[in-house]
Amino acid sequence: NINQKVEALLRQMTLEEKIGQLNQYTGDNAATGPITINPNKQTEIKQGLIGSMLNILGTKYTRQYQELAMQSRLKIPLLFGQDVIHGYKTTFPIPLAEAASWDLEAMELTARIAATEAAAAGIHWTFAPMVDISRDPRWGRVMEGAGEDTYLGSKIAYARVKGFQGNLGDVTSVMACVKHFAAYGAAVGGRDYNSVDMSNRMLWETYLPPFKAALDAGAATFMNSFNDLNGIPATGNAYLQRDILKGKWNFKGFVVSDWGSIGEMVNHGFAKDNKEAALAAITAGSDMDMESNAYRYHLAQLVKEKKVPMALIDDAVKRILRKKFELGLFDDPFKFNNEEREQKALCNPEHRKVARAMAAKSIVLLKNEKGILPLSKSTKTIAFIGPLVKEYKQNMGFWSVELPELDYTKEIVSQWDGLQNKVGKNTQLLYAKGCDIEGDNKEGFAEAIAVANQADVVILSIGERRDQSGEAKSRSNLRLPGVQEELVKAIQATGKPVVVLINAGRPLIFNWTADQVPAILYTWWLGSEAGNAIADVLFGDYNPSGKLPMSFPREEGQIPIYYNHFNTGRPAPNETATNYVSAYIDLKNSPKFPFGYGLSYTTFNYSDLQLSKKVMKKNETITVSFTLTNTGKFDGEEVVQLYLKDQVGSVVRPVKELRDFQKVFLKAGASQKITFTIDKEKLAFYNAKLEWAPEPGGFEVQLGSSSADIRLKDSFELIF
Ligand code: IFM
Repeated sequence: NINQKVEALLRQMTLEEKIGQLNQYTGDNAATGPITINPNKQTEIKQGLIGSMLNILGTKYTRQYQELAMQSRLKIPLLFGQDVIHGYKTTFPIPLAEAASWDLEAMELTARIAATEAAAAGIHWTFAPMVDISRDPRWGRVMEGAGEDTYLGSKIAYARVKGFQGNLGDVTSVMACVKHFAAYGAAVGGRDYNSVDMSNRMLWETYLPPFKAALDAGAATFMNSFNDLNGIPATGNAYLQRDILKGKWNFKGFVVSDWGSIGEMVNHGFAKDNKEAALAAITAGSDMDMESNAYRYHLAQLVKEKKVPMALIDDAVKRILRKKFELGLFDDPFKFNNEEREQKALCNPEHRKVARAMAAKSIVLLKNEKGILPLSKSTKTIAFIGPLVKEYKQNMGFWSVELPELDYTKEIVSQWDGLQNKVGKNTQLLYAKGCDIEGDNKEGFAEAIAVANQADVVILSIGERRDQSGEAKSRSNLRLPGVQEELVKAIQATGKPVVVLINAGRPLIFNWTADQVPAILYTWWLGSEAGNAIADVLFGDYNPSGKLPMSFPREEGQIPIYYNHFNTGRPAPNETATNYVSAYIDLKNSPKFPFGYGLSYTTFNYSDLQLSKKVMKKNETITVSFTLTNTGKFDGEEVVQLYLKDQVGSVVRPVKELRDFQKVFLKAGASQKITFTIDKEKLAFYNAKLEWAPEPGGFEVQLGSSSADIRLKDSFELIF
């Protein structure tokens, strides 16, 4: 059995070889952090002083490195890690966009395909999913997660881990790495890497559940985090890593540091030098050191000085070796290196089909006045205007895998290509760039206006640059960059019907556009098949079904903004009240677009709410059912959202909390009975003693099409 094999191998290892297993270096591909020391990696691998590499792409190169490891005394295989965040070669929508689909099966499938491609390219381990809850769109890494909600985020975390890991040990599966443990998404001011100061209640109730869900799905590894949490850097945080993760949650996998995060404890002022940082990290439960060189150069000495017990080293080494055995690397270290499989797997037509479908599901229809959308396929002249129309690479978003040989013009369907693929010979397509994404140059406006004037309808594609959101991409100003909103104004002034596509990695603020332009699709970054998917939605071949996974603020001053806030002692009775109530005197409290919001080309009616009982005993369940009817002219999907409000608690409870949802397809005119079951788990929360339990009392049940569009309500009593 694996444990015996691990123990037997451990007995043969020198202290240096053991520490080698805890050491991870970056390879030669695009570095994903600052490189501080440049050791002779090849030699060190042959000496058995490295356990893992990241940023080495492709079967050929991972094989070359593995061959070096096979020259080491004990021939312990290397683990190859990579940020396969939203696809390997086939690039899927950024994770926040996928979250907007609320389609768990679809997200599991894209993770499965990403794993299949990555594994075929010699990768064993993805640094995903990122499950950080975030309520602050200034933080650039919101693009990488599932948004603001703990329930939705937990479901997505579970699905993604299942997708990546499949049947771990197969040549189509990679280990997941749940990150960033923990609370990274709550950085003060939305500034990346910043401190986090948070109550234990908030940590347990809002930020930890997605990690626990990922663990329940069998996640093999965790990554700790750059931030400090209440003054203790997450990387040196024993409460997080030892007490919670490896203690209470009994996690048997291993924890990798984030890039340089062990060494950064010196900057935090938590350790005086790299050696002290190594001591803090290993003591707190960080098993593998990514690019700090702290373990590599200091752990042996710390053991010799008896500051680090051998048992701690052994525990970390065993955790890592166990995974290498579970992956089958000791049986065949080149198991994931098969050129033919790589050729067949990467970006194959089947995968691209899934990418197109996922991209279409991720688009959110924010506005559609006068039924401008879907466009008619017999439209004579369409003007496609904007700085993002002909961009290929931008569609990949941040954290796409930068394969050196990738020809973006071949691998990505630009928005222009997508529209061309869609329209027939009788439709004329006109193009003008209008302006750049950034800068104040308006020279292109005149051409854009002239082109718009010739068209029956104008589609404007605007937004962020793909690298304006992502790691270290915090923004204090969330407006459309440059003169893009002015371009929208100029085009709108032509009087032509205008459809705006907004491409971004986060919620942006575009109030003029939102108020004045009749049709808006939020297209995020959609990956390889962006152009085709956008065209599918524009022309109604796919009826949009996305719902926002984050609240969109009206102004930056509202941030952090999230739907499941507390009521306060002086809630504002309406949007205009300001007199001694919890409100802004210069702005509404509500977001511009709320969590869970998204339109369809059809409409849905909710009716006949029925609760199976009005009083529920603790161990019973209540069924909530109602009839959903597609009342419009198009077939379509609705994400039906179930919110609960615990009316009185031993601690203050949110105004509502998402506790379940279903994505339902209905043909035009069709009706379906929808049923949810509520049990005590759905009513539980962290009580005044920080115990997870329900409390007796009244609960309001709310069913809606978004967090702000509740269609049906009732209540029941929980008794003990
Ligand atoms: O996985 C990432 C992490 O999310 C941020 N820092 C770098 C790591 C490896 O690339």
